[in-house]
Amino acid sequence: MTQTQVDAVGALGLLRFDRVQRCAHWVNAALFGVLMATAIPLYFGSFFGVVLERHVVAQVHLWSGLALPVPLIVSLTGPWGRQMRRDLRRINYWTRDEILWMRSLGNSGLSVDKFNPGQKLNTIFVGGAILVMVATGSMLQWFRFFPVPWRTGATFVHDVFALAVFGVVLGHIVMALTHRDSLRSIFGGRVSERWAAVHAPGWLQEQRLKGPPGSD
Ligand code: HEM
Repeated sequence: MTQTQVDAVGALGLLRFDRVQRCAHWVNAALFGVLMATAIPLYFGSFFGVVLERHVVAQVHLWSGLALPVPLIVSLTGPWGRQMRRDLRRINYWTRDEILWMRSLGNSGLSVDKFNPGQKLNTIFVGGAILVMVATGSMLQWFRFFPVPWRTGATFVHDVFALAVFGVVLGHIVMALTHRDSLRSIFGGRVSERWAAVHAPGWLQEQRLKGPPGSD
């Protein structure tokens, strides 16, 4: 890579999330927000009638739930989903050093790739939760097609995962608010080289070898 290319990367900042990924993130976040807000009155039935009828809340919950996989599917398919697919491959790829990094709670001196193992685990949990919640939620909705033990199991799993979703989303928001540069990148897409040198040195090196957009 020439000095001009190095300067170009530095001046632009690095593209961490493209427009498709940012869009998918915010639609997904909005759907999770609606699902969590409607889950509270569904679980604690005594809220009903205060603002909305139970039927309305249950319908909003159901339709937001059925829409939940859509942003992920749309952003992963088609030519527009190239970077999303590339990042999914990164998230699925775990090295021995990353497992050691997890065990030492981030103190093993790992040269972090684009995402650290904690961020990878968060994404894997969210993806898994989408699958589990859509499957169990569909069983709660179309219960007539399932035997009673399945329905009981589905309600239990839906509730346990709901609790985990509240915990993980809360943790995710706290991390986002305390890491302003990361937060900015999910709005504007870019991070500075200085940020990448500290938080994602492995990825920075890869970007430097690749050069600025359009150079490969
Ligand atoms: C972030 C994701 C979600 C959370 C936190 C969540 C949470 C909850 C909770 C706490 C309940 C009440 C269960 C009970 O009374 O024991 C519920 C009910 C329900 N959920 Fe979800 N859920 C989520 C996603 C989904 C999805 C993806 C679907 C998709 C079909 C869905 C469909 C339903 C249905 C049909 C009910 C029963 C509503 C009723 O009682 O009429 N949920 N959900």
